[in-house]
Amino acid sequence: MGSESFMELVKGRRSIRRFLPKKVPREVMESCLEAARLAPSGENVQPWRFLVLDEPDRIRDFGEQAFSGIYRFTRWALKAPVIVVILAKLDILTNRIGAHLQGTQYYLLDIGIAGTHLMMRAYEQGLGGCWIGWFNAKKAARALRVPKKYRVVCCMALGYYEEPRKRRKKKYELGKVAWFNEMP
Ligand SMILES: Cc1cc2nc3c(=O)[nH]c(=O)nc-3n(C[C@H](O)[C@H](O)[C@H](O)COP(=O)(O)O)c2cc1C
Repeated sequence: MGSESFMELVKGRRSIRRFLPKKVPREVMESCLEAARLAPSGENVQPWRFLVLDEPDRIRDFGEQAFSGIYRFTRWALKAPVIVVILAKLDILTNRIGAHLQGTQYYLLDIGIAGTHLMMRAYEQGLGGCWIGWFNAKKAARALRVPKKYRVVCCMALGYYEEPRKRRKKKYELGKVAWFNEMP
């Protein structure tokens, strides 16, 4: 792993929701986190925080809370060897001013970028993964004893996997989503 070009990685990536029961070494996860750490962010505020769950008991305790009730469709993630909980630090003044003046929650953009760095580095190292936006954020925060100044924004399931048989999801043609100089 590691010899693929960026475009090959991008083209090969698809969401992985079934994993091999194989432990992910700490060095592999640390390299993913390092890729996230170096991501750009508005005003360089780096609002992201990552809580890595890589112990089966921790994942079970967390998942029983976070993936309950209407969120039970995400219970597949209980079998993931790793769940990365992505948090945002909320008490950053620049972000508050930006949200007030511009109406944009910049920290969500920042987290999306850092999470993508993390995920693509994971794929580069032979892992697969899936973003998780459908979970009970309140129960997740309680289960993890997250201090008030952080918000649990999303999670990511990661692990080794067998090549999925499913074809990749259909994506819009380029002409439908991108234009040069003028809107159609
Ligand atoms: C912000 C975000 C949240 C997502 N949340 C979930 C989720 O809760 N459960 C799930 O199974 N997939 C989730 N996904 C995965 C998407 O369903 C998937 O990326 C999409 O269907 C495209 O498929 P692909 O990733 O294979 O290209 C999420 C993806 C993103 C980017």
